[in-house]
Order: sequence, then structure tokens, then C-alpha cells
Amino acid sequence: MGAAGYGRELLDLVEAINAAGGDAYGFLGFLDDGHADPDPLARRGSSVLGGLELLAGLDADYLIGIGAAAARARIDRYASACGRRPTTLVHPRAHLGGDVRLGPGTVVCALASLTTNIRTGRHVLVDIGAGIAHDCHLGDYATVAPGARLGGGVQVGAGAWVGMQASVVPGRRIGAGAVVGAGAVVTDDVRPGLVVAGVPARPIDPADGSAQAARPPIVLPRMPELAPGAPQADL
Ligand SMILES: CC(C)(COP(=O)(O)OP(=O)(O)OC[C@H]1O[C@@H](n2cnc3c(N)ncnc32)[C@H](O)[C@@H]1OP(=O)(O)O)[C@@H](O)C(=O)NCCC(=O)NCCS
Repeated sequence: MGAAGYGRELLDLVEAINAAGGDAYGFLGFLDDGHADPDPLARRGSSVLGGLELLAGLDADYLIGIGAAAARARIDRYASACGRRPTTLVHPRAHLGGDVRLGPGTVVCALASLTTNIRTGRHVLVDIGAGIAHDCHLGDYATVAPGARLGGGVQVGAGAWVGMQASVVPGRRIGAGAVVGAGAVVTDDVRPGLVVAGVPARPIDPADGSAQAARPPIVLPRMPELAPGAPQADL
């Protein structure tokens, strides 16, 4: 689901797993409602099959290749309501230690390292070269961007973003929906929904949240009624 840059990176990940383990996955194609550039897809030998609503009629598991947490949450609800199951992917050159439990749809990219006693929720992204130390918990739809580092016992709330090369010192909490800017060093807890950046990290959004309200909404297909028991996370 999603045929832009992150979606194409997921195709690489699927191909790497197949190359390492002998065709574990068949790839049907991309679903996308937007205006994905067909050229990079064609150069990968792929194309967009159609809109997201096609998922309901496909006998397939799925991945969400969209960075925005709110979009991941809504697509997860839609796909669950359609009875589709997410795949969980770990790149063959990622490192997972003992007692690392990955939630459905979680993606661990190349060179990422998760040490021990770690939990992730649904559709979490641990991007290229990210480092997650012992006892971290990553909530549903959280993202740890390329090269970011979480010290031991860090908790990342649902839908939160830790930007590229950012570091979070051990034991801190990143609230739900918060954003940590690229290169930041987080030394204090970050309140839910706040955007922080810099060294040490400080809020850069007005406290009234107006900057986030100004960001464009994500347009998704009309959602069917949710099945009982479908994930209910709202972002
Ligand atoms: C923090 C971030 C979300 C802010 O984005 P934004 O809300 O659009 O903010 P703006 O670009 O308008 O910048 C607002 C101010 O914060 C500063 N700023 C933005 N990002 C910063 C960062 N990472 N570190 C330090 N300062 C930063 C800007 O210079 C600007 O300062 P000014 O008001 O003095 O000019 C974004 O810059 C960022 O770092 N995103 C992470 C991207 C990432 O890691 N993506 C992963 C891709 S795989």
C-alpha cells in the first residue's frame, strides 16, 4: 500500500529476503490512490495495480509503505476491516537480539539493530541503520528514521517520529504523535504531539499546536464499517 519512495524501498526489502531465503514472498504489486510516478516503478519492473480499495478483493497479505503515521493507522483499520493481515518484515542484514517481539506489519530495514527485550506495536518502521537498545517499547505506527538511536528503556508513543540521526538518551518517553527532528538529542521526555529539534532538543512548534493543524490532511479512500475487534488506534 503506497507506491512512492518508502513503498519502493519495501520492494527492495522483499527482494532481499527472497534472495537470502529462497522466494519467501510473491509480490503482487502496489496499491496507491495518489499520483505515484510510474517511471521509477517501471524501472523496478512493477506498476500500480489500482487504488487501496482493491485490497478487499485480493487474497494477499499486505505492507504499508507510507511514512505518515496517521495514514498507516487508517489503512490498518481499513485492511483489518477487509480481513487482510499485515506481513512483518526483517531485512536479512538487520540484527535482532533475544526476546525482540515485533508487532504485525512492523518493518525492520537493513543494518538496523534491536538488542534485547524490545517490543514494537503494529506497523512500526525501524529504518536503515537505526539502533534500538534494550527494553525499548515502540507504540503502534511509530517510526525510527535512518540512523536514529534509542537508548535503553526508551518508550516511543503511538504514531511518534524519531528523525534521522536523532538520539534519545536512556529511559526517556516520546509522547504519542510527537516528532523528534533530524539530528536532535533528546534529554527530557517529549510531550504528546510536540515537535522538538536541536541539541539538546527543544520544542519548535507553538504550544497551541497551530503548526501541526496547518499541515495538509491525508486523503484516503472511503472506509468501510469496521469489523468487530479491528484496531481502534486514532491519530
Ligand atoms: C523537525 C521537523 C519535523 C520540522 O519540520 P517543520 O515543522 O516543517 O519545520 P520548519 O522546516 O518550518 O522549521 C522550523 C524551524 O525549526 C528549525 N528546524 C527544523 N528542523 C530542524 C532540525 N532537525 N534541527 C534543528 N532545527 C530545525 C528550522 O531551521 C526553523 O527555524 P527558524 O524558525 O529559526 O527558521 C523537520 O525539520 C525534521 O527534522 N524532520 C525529520 C525528517 C526525517 O528525519 N525524515 C526521515 C526521512 S526517511
